[in-house]
Parts: sequence; C-alpha cells; structure tokens
Amino acid sequence: MKFNEPATTNPIDQLKIVGQPVNRIDGPLKTTGTAPYAMDRHDVVPNQAHGYIIGSAIPKGRIVSMDLAAAKAAPGVLAIVTAANAGKLNKGNFNTALLLGGPRIEHYHQAVALVVAETFEQARDAAHLVRIKYEREGGVFDLHAVRNKAAAPKKDGSAESKVGNFTGAFASAPVKLDAEYHTAHESHSMMEPHASIAAWDGDRLTVWTSNQMIAWNAGDLAKTLGIPKAKVHVMSPYIGGGFGSKLFTRADALLAALGARAARRPVKVTLQRALIPNNTTHRSATIQRIRIGATREGKITAIAHDTASGNLPEGSPENAATQTRSLYAGEHRMTSNRVAVMDLPEANAMRAPGEAPGMAALEIAMDEMAEKLGIDPVQFRILNDTQVVPDNPEKPASADPQSKKPEEKKKHNPHPPFSQRQFIQCLQTGAQRFGWDKRSAKPGQVRDGRWLVGMGMASAFRDNMLTKSAARVRLDRRGFLTVETDMTDIGTGSYTIIAQTASEMMGIPLERVKVRLGDSSFPASCGSGGQWGGNNSTAGVYAACMKLRDAVAQKAGFDPQRAIFADGLVRAGDKSMPLAQAVGEREIVAEDLIEYGDISERFQQSTFGAHFVEVGVDAVTCEVRIRRMLAVCAAGRILNPKTARSQVIGAMTMGVGAALMEELAVDARLGFFVNHDLASYEVPVHADIPHQEVIFLDETDPMSSPMKAKGIAELGICGVAAAIANAVYNATGVRVRSYPITLDKLI
Ligand code: MOS
Repeated sequence: MKFNEPATTNPIDQLKIVGQPVNRIDGPLKTTGTAPYAMDRHDVVPNQAHGYIIGSAIPKGRIVSMDLAAAKAAPGVLAIVTAANAGKLNKGNFNTALLLGGPRIEHYHQAVALVVAETFEQARDAAHLVRIKYEREGGVFDLHAVRNKAAAPKKDGSAESKVGNFTGAFASAPVKLDAEYHTAHESHSMMEPHASIAAWDGDRLTVWTSNQMIAWNAGDLAKTLGIPKAKVHVMSPYIGGGFGSKLFTRADALLAALGARAARRPVKVTLQRALIPNNTTHRSATIQRIRIGATREGKITAIAHDTASGNLPEGSPENAATQTRSLYAGEHRMTSNRVAVMDLPEANAMRAPGEAPGMAALEIAMDEMAEKLGIDPVQFRILNDTQVVPDNPEKPASADPQSKKPEEKKKHNPHPPFSQRQFIQCLQTGAQRFGWDKRSAKPGQVRDGRWLVGMGMASAFRDNMLTKSAARVRLDRRGFLTVETDMTDIGTGSYTIIAQTASEMMGIPLERVKVRLGDSSFPASCGSGGQWGGNNSTAGVYAACMKLRDAVAQKAGFDPQRAIFADGLVRAGDKSMPLAQAVGEREIVAEDLIEYGDISERFQQSTFGAHFVEVGVDAVTCEVRIRRMLAVCAAGRILNPKTARSQVIGAMTMGVGAALMEELAVDARLGFFVNHDLASYEVPVHADIPHQEVIFLDETDPMSSPMKAKGIAELGICGVAAAIANAVYNATGVRVRSYPITLDKLI
C-alpha cells in the first residue's frame, strides 16, 4: 500500500481498541522474569559453548603478536578466534570500526579475540592467559583539543545550511546572545547487555540476539561474513532496552557466528558490562555555539547554531544543530553539524540523536534570551512560532537502504508547511497545568527549608520519520489472527499496539490476536529506531489487514468495499458471517507493505512538546533534586496512552540523567572511557524521580500514515535537560552551560 495523500476515514478511526490504555501483552513475561532474552535461551539449540571477548588494551596502533598457546591448552577451551584466523571479513553497512580488530586497532576495547570454551568461566579464565603485544600510536581523545578541526562530513551535503544574511542581521540586532554549551559523552546503559547465540547448519547461520533492526542486522551479518542474506536467520523477540545501542550488528553477534564456525558448536557470547561503553557505540560529546539576535519586542531576526562532535574517521557527526532549522522563526539563519576525527570508540545514534543534545543547548539559549529581553520564556517561544520550516536544505540521497528511490524525488521546497504543529498549545497547556504563573522571574528568590527552589521550562521537538514496513497476517479457521513482522519490541509496547491495530482492523477481540515479532523470516518492518517504530510498524499491519479484509469478504461472497468487520463477524448489508466460517478449512494469509512517496517532503513531519520542571538545590551542598516534572506532547494519534506515557516518562528520566549525572569520563592519556559500568556511570533511579506527569494533546495527523500516529519515545527526552538547567538557574542564579550539572559547577 502506497501512502502519499492525507489519510481519510478508515477502520482505525473506530477507536474501539486502538487508543485504549491496554496493558502490555509482554508485561507478565517481563515482570516474572520469564521473557526469553538472548542470553537466557539455553533451550533453543543444544550443546551451547561459551565465548568470551577480549577487548584491545590500546586505543590505536597495531597488534605485534598474540600468544595463544597457554589459552589453547587451558581446560575446556574449544577454539580461539582472531582476525588472523577468522578468514576474510567485510565491513558492514552500519559499522564505522571493524567488529573484530587486528592487526590494526581502531579503538580501545575493540574486540581482538574470542575464546570459546565449554563453560563461561573456562572461557574467561583462558582469555586471561592470552598474551598480546601491541605497538601503540598516539591518538586524539579530547574533543576540545581538536574542535577547530571539526568539519562538515563530505558525504552529507546538508550538514551546513544558510538562509539570508546571518552575520549582518546578528550584528545589527538590538538584543543578542552568543554563548557556548557543552554536552557530555553518553552511554546508552540499557539493562540487557548485547548478547547472541549463533549456530551453523552447513552454510546456514541462525542467530538469537538482542537487536532493534532485524533486517539491517541480518544484512550486515551476511555482508560481513560474505554469505547470502537468505542464509542468515536472526531472531530477537525480546529486548531489554536498546536506546540506539542495538540498531546495528555488534561484536557479540559476529563473534558468536565466527566462534560457532571455529568450534563447530553453537556459541553464546554476552558482552560483559565493562566492555560495553568502549566496545559498542556511545553518543559523542558536543560543543555548541548558539547566537540569537532579536528585536526589543522579542522577535528573532538572526539565529545560528554550530556544533562540533567527535568520531572515528568516516564517522557521522552528532547532528545537534538540525532542529534549529525548524523550531523557531527568524529571517536570517545558519547551522552546521561538524565532526572532528578522534580515536575514541565509535560514536553513533543514542535516543533522539541530534535533537537530545541539540535541544539541551538551544533551550538554555532561549531561556537566556528571554531573560535578556525581559520576556517570559513561554511567551518568548510563542512569539517565535512558525507554521512553515524556515530552513530546509535539500538533503542528498542517503546511504540508508530504506531511502527513497530517485524517481520518487520531487521538487525541493525550501519552506514546507508542517503536517501538524500544535506547539503553542503544548506551551500554553503546560504553563497552565504546571502553575507556571507562580514562578518568580527573578532567580534565587524561593526557599523551602534548606532548598532553593526554581522552575524551568523548555520546548520539545523531534522529527517524525516515515519508513516502509511490511507485515503478514494469518486468519485461521477458529477465527484467530496471527501477525508476523520482523518489528522489534525494545520495551516500547510494539507487541501491544500491533495487536490493538490488528484487532481493530479485523473486528476481533485482542485475545484472539497473536503477535510474533523480531524474526528475519517474517516480512521486513521499519524496526525500532528514531521513534519511527510505532507509527510505521502499525501502518504496515494496517496494510496487511486491508488485504486480509478483502480476501475474507471475497470468500464470504460479500462486496469487499461494503464489508464491515466487527464482533468476530464480517457483515455486508443485512448479511453476516463469522470470520471462522468465512475462512473455511484452511487459513487465509495476507501480506503487504506500507510505503511512502514524498509526503514527508511536501509536509514537514515533526512532533512537538513542552517540558516543565521544578528543582530544589541544596543551599549548602548544591545537590540538585528534581521535585516534579510535566511533559505536554503533540505527537499525532496516541495509539495506547499507557505505553505512550511509559515511553515519555522513561525519556524524561533519561533527560534527568543527561542533565545531572551522565558522563563518560575520558582518560585522555590512555584513550578510553573510564567509568565503564553502572556503578560509576550514573543514571537516575526511582528515588531521583518523585513526580512525573504527561499530557497528550488530542491530535491526529492524517499525513503520517493511515494510523494518523507519530513517534513519541524520543520527543520525551528532547528539551528535558534544558528545562532542568533553566530550573537550576531559576533556583540559584547560577547559569551552567556544561552538562552534566554536577554540584561542583554550582559552588
Ligand atoms: Mo534510536 S537512537 O534510533 O534507537
């Protein structure tokens, strides 16, 4: 089904089941510890051996020699895989560094060997007997030292943008701000480590893993190993969090496959927690310069946002300036997303890549400008609303395999309208519900015992991406429906909203729908990433169900155009038939794909919101405590308010981490992230989050898909850190422009 015009009224609009706060179908499995995560799957294949990864002890250079003799002779050892004996490996589509290094070393803890043994303990013991001699080269580990070398990546023609004459307009603006903001290197820190079990059957590879994007993963495993994609079967039905760290194939999956080939046994590999921050990906730190010029009345006339981040050679920048092209009005503008070549581990997508750190900076700048202007921060944002995109540089054809074909490209519009933009409504609703009018505009005025109390707010903004997604539906002769798609559920509620969609479409109760996900033998979905999963995966199920409805109606002898599906029946006029009867002896199977034309180029699709936060800052120790948080979101139709709320409060919590705690500390001598565990890389716990509220504005977006829904899970983090920073300023009068806002920055 091609979707390229606004959605009309369709079966989803009944909203009997879609839009209801249905409990997560996988909830009981998760809360009872019985959901089979990759590393728990002792049962899927017998005779599993265990692999233990050795990470490089240097950040850059080469391996001179590896002495494997003692390890090979250790008890239980079955095989040792290194780049020297693994055979030819190709680079995958999505990895910047090789997943198995050697002799060349690209970053600290890059995998250099896998020891396979009968037990995990034997593999670990033997790994400690491997002796590696390295030749270390110098490297670049401090972003601030190379910030001036940051450049726009050549392969991305839209890394920089310009509209009008920023320099002139900024110079002549009566009120202006020129400030610099820093965000920290961050680690996804999902609960479940990366883990895979691999088994070969002849030349066919089966991998049980934990991954957000099944089709990408199967494709990259095949490409890396140099085998046909059809020979790779990947399964990932339950995932203990991803946040972007599991978008791509990682060392656990590749090395499990190589280990299984070498040991001629199924092999299980779990990345030990201490390996994850340096072996996998992280979000790069950023240095962001923001300049805003405005009239005395508060109209922005000039706005510039320049960002620098770091990555390995060929790596992408953290696109922290991108949202500044769309969020606020202003005639003269400039943005840049630049990247400096560094030798830290690979930087890549983490929840709301670009916007999360970008909004963390931009929204402090907006608070600072509002103060300079003497205008309320909510009002200042309302004053600078825009209904068209002010700066929409033409995007070059992307390397993403899901990208549109050239013939679908239409004329470029430099100022497309938004499909929906209830931004002002979010700001106003939030201000009213939070009691914003009680905020003292002057900082440092409110005291509650030992606490200095302050309120802050920030806008939320995140793009909504449309990407194709397929599904297969089977209706059996009992009237039960099975949905099969390689979509994943990374804790987001995919199982539940997909079941709700199928249930609504076919007019059968939820209990009669079984959803099967995360299997590369199922039709390829959009996967879980970039907050595109909810809308697109359900739209794919919608498309498949439309086909199934036609097939069922035809079998019942009804006109498919007039058929109605409700109460387990298909009806046409005054005739009706139970679905089971229409199916007859065999099942009816339908498969379809939702795909999009240029609708998201004709209409800018974004999600909007506003974050409000109250903090207390200890007047003596300067510890910051969150007192309450509110998010108001406008993100299209909310398919399930319970799972959507969970996504937003989770994202808000992650925003608290970014604001107050999270920072991968770099050892610039040895070239690695030091705090590589959950004891020293701090993330918020329940006790840090006393009160959160989420309000969804009533919205449907007919441009987004037949579901009229959008993404929500990344919107929820965008702006949170700045709302906290602004609240800390309001409480104390101390303006911190460098995250995380630890107490030393307030003393
Ligand atoms: Mo998201 S960072 O695309 O999983």
